[in-house]
Amino acid sequence: MKYLIRPLDADINTADFQCGTQPLNDYIRRYASQDVRKNVSRVFIATPENDQKKLAGFFTLSAGSVGCSSLPTSLARKLPRYPVPVALIGRLAVDNESQGKGLGSILLADACQKVSQASSVLAVVGIIVDAKDDKSISFYKHFGFIPLPGQADRLLLPASVFQQNSPFTE
Ligand SMILES: CC(C)(COP(=O)(O)OP(=O)(O)OC[C@H]1O[C@@H](n2cnc3c(N)ncnc32)[C@H](O)[C@@H]1OP(=O)(O)O)[C@@H](O)C(=O)NCCC(=O)NCCS
Repeated sequence: MKYLIRPLDADINTADFQCGTQPLNDYIRRYASQDVRKNVSRVFIATPENDQKKLAGFFTLSAGSVGCSSLPTSLARKLPRYPVPVALIGRLAVDNESQGKGLGSILLADACQKVSQASSVLAVVGIIVDAKDDKSISFYKHFGFIPLPGQADRLLLPASVFQQNSPFTE
């Protein structure tokens, strides 16, 4: 199956989206377009190539910052002691029907590629994800994200990983 990824628009049908995590279903149906309008998040949607109204998955990107003391020591010791800029994948989800077929990794790779491109004009020390549960923690660890010390559900992919070459293949 081939997918197309584009910014959220009004043509997409979000009403039938079910990923197994209700807050993520509610987010894309009710709040995502408001966040885009308010410049709180950018939201990207994936559709099957042959049905561009069907929502197969989505992710959000926004800017954030983290205190140096919350980063792994190996990274923190190379950084200034004030809060440093990061990119945030706030949400990432795949519709039940499309799970287990590689779309989650395509979305994650696309998010990393977008951040890598943006980081040439807006510096970040890495990408942070807030995992919703143990299953998603293990999903992100599978791709090299490392938990922040003392925050098992907040994980980081250092910029050195995605700026040199992407560890993900589409
Ligand atoms: C987590 C989620 C995004 C994964 O999407 P998916 O399309 O099913 O994942 P993929 O098919 O792309 O899997 C890609 C790889 O991740 C691995 N993987 C998937 N889920 C995993 C998990 N929970 N733990 C460890 N690895 C996992 C797969 O084995 C696969 O590995 P491989 O490429 O080496 O074969 C999807 O299950 C989902 O939307 N779940 C509900 C919402 C959620 O938990 N979102 C994430 C947190 S915000």
